[in-house]
Amino acid sequence: MKVKVKIRRFNPESDRRPYWAEYTLDADPSDRIIDVLVQIKGYHDGSLTFRRSCAHGICGSDAVVINGHNRLACKVLVKHIGKNIVIEPLRGLPVIKDLTVDMTPFFAKYRAIQPFLMNDEPPPYTERLQTQEARARFDDTTKCILCAACTTSCPSFWSNDSYVGPAAIVQAHRFIFDDRDRGAQVRLAILAESDGVWRCRTIYNCVEACPRDIDITRAIGEVKKAMLVGE
Ligand code: SF4
Ligand code: F3S
Ligand code: FES
Repeated sequence: MKVKVKIRRFNPESDRRPYWAEYTLDADPSDRIIDVLVQIKGYHDGSLTFRRSCAHGICGSDAVVINGHNRLACKVLVKHIGKNIVIEPLRGLPVIKDLTVDMTPFFAKYRAIQPFLMNDEPPPYTERLQTQEARARFDDTTKCILCAACTTSCPSFWSNDSYVGPAAIVQAHRFIFDDRDRGAQVRLAILAESDGVWRCRTIYNCVEACPRDIDITRAIGEVKKAMLVGE
């Protein structure tokens, strides 16, 4: 099928402002949007810049805005979108070039919640064991691939980019509710600050955007509750 692809492009080194580039090409309905981008780069305009690695929904590197929705380009098929495809970079992060945004501020928020196991107790001879029930407590939030689709779809983040954002809260949840970890109070104190979890206004865009179907608002709610009444 013939598809028309509009891409919001911008090279800060040479363009005064972003502009729309249009390409018409043949695509199979079962092609992914990442295949369309690769075809454009290979056969229409080699200067088109986008990020991707695994191409199978694992690495989280190719989140973009597709027809208004934050999506992984490797998880959306042409037949899901139709003949008119519109692709933009994620909103709220600086554009490096075309569809590639600077993830540095995003990962700074991730680092801020200290995303590693904290436990100074002497480790047992083998591993730190955990029951299946205890593991299930935070199973959902272990699925995060740090694609930034949630945080960059959040109006609270758009209006205040100091807000830690849903992705960092999801990552904090993964450790706060891990019974092997002893750093919950440290993370809860960080998230209780003015740009922390209370900036969430339960707008739900993040849930709609998440390619891993993580129940983000539930995780945020559990973190808020832990702050108020304990884990
Ligand atoms: Fe991506 Fe979902 Fe993780 Fe947010 S919670 S970074 S949308 S995988
Ligand atoms: Fe934003 Fe999601 Fe909360 S969209 S306001 S983090 S529910
Ligand atoms: Fe890795 Fe899409 S390229 S998730």
